[in-house]
Amino acid sequence: MIRIALVVGSTRPGRRGTAAARWALDTAAASPAVAGGRASIDILNVADFDLPLLDEPVPAAFGAYAQSHTRRWSQAVAAFDAFVFVTPEYNHSFPAALKNALDYLFAEWQHKVAGFVGYGTSGGIRAVEQLRQVMGELKVADVPTQVALSMFTDFTFTDPTDPTDPGTCTPAPHHAETLTRMLEEIIAWSAALVPLRAEAQPVTS
Ligand SMILES: Cc1cc2nc3c(=O)[nH]c(=O)nc-3n(C[C@H](O)[C@H](O)[C@H](O)COP(=O)(O)O)c2cc1C
Repeated sequence: MIRIALVVGSTRPGRRGTAAARWALDTAAASPAVAGGRASIDILNVADFDLPLLDEPVPAAFGAYAQSHTRRWSQAVAAFDAFVFVTPEYNHSFPAALKNALDYLFAEWQHKVAGFVGYGTSGGIRAVEQLRQVMGELKVADVPTQVALSMFTDFTFTDPTDPTDPGTCTPAPHHAETLTRMLEEIIAWSAALVPLRAEAQPVTS
């Protein structure tokens, strides 16, 4: 059983990431991977961890955490084998809150697998490209298939002119097919990396 977290990278009040993650959760739950018992899927909200801007004296690679919020975040991330980052695009990148959350940890990400659900006016594609660069340094294997949701066609709003409307995520069917394919890639790579995860140093905090 591969344990997959849907990491909601937006922390903005009224974020549309909640709607995107809910769609991804429901779609994944109905997929052969999860429905067939090969993977589990849960939402991991960065916003729930109240992480301040990085305030650890020692870089995360040393695994010596001074702050209780870091230990809480560490335990949550360490419990998963793979991640689907649900990320908006902010100024052609991913949210600073997500980068901060990534920087807090190191061993907890290593030898795991990532997929992406990007969203924005252009499908969050540039945000995901930048996230892929960070994955390399964290020793995360990122699968090529990615979901790109458009604010214009894949969400429904009560008032489309209201930027605080969190909306619902109502994507075209091909997005569900893409997510399902991505989950299969994640499971295959995550299973292949089990020996490396078994050898890795445990988190020492
Ligand atoms: C600070 C900021 C910058 C943004 N920059 C972009 C951008 O570069 N490209 C894009 O497609 N959408 C951009 N948007 C629009 C967001 O994709 C859209 O508001 C989305 O709902 C944000 O995700 P969230 O609601 O989960 O925070 C930006 C939004 C914000 C708040």
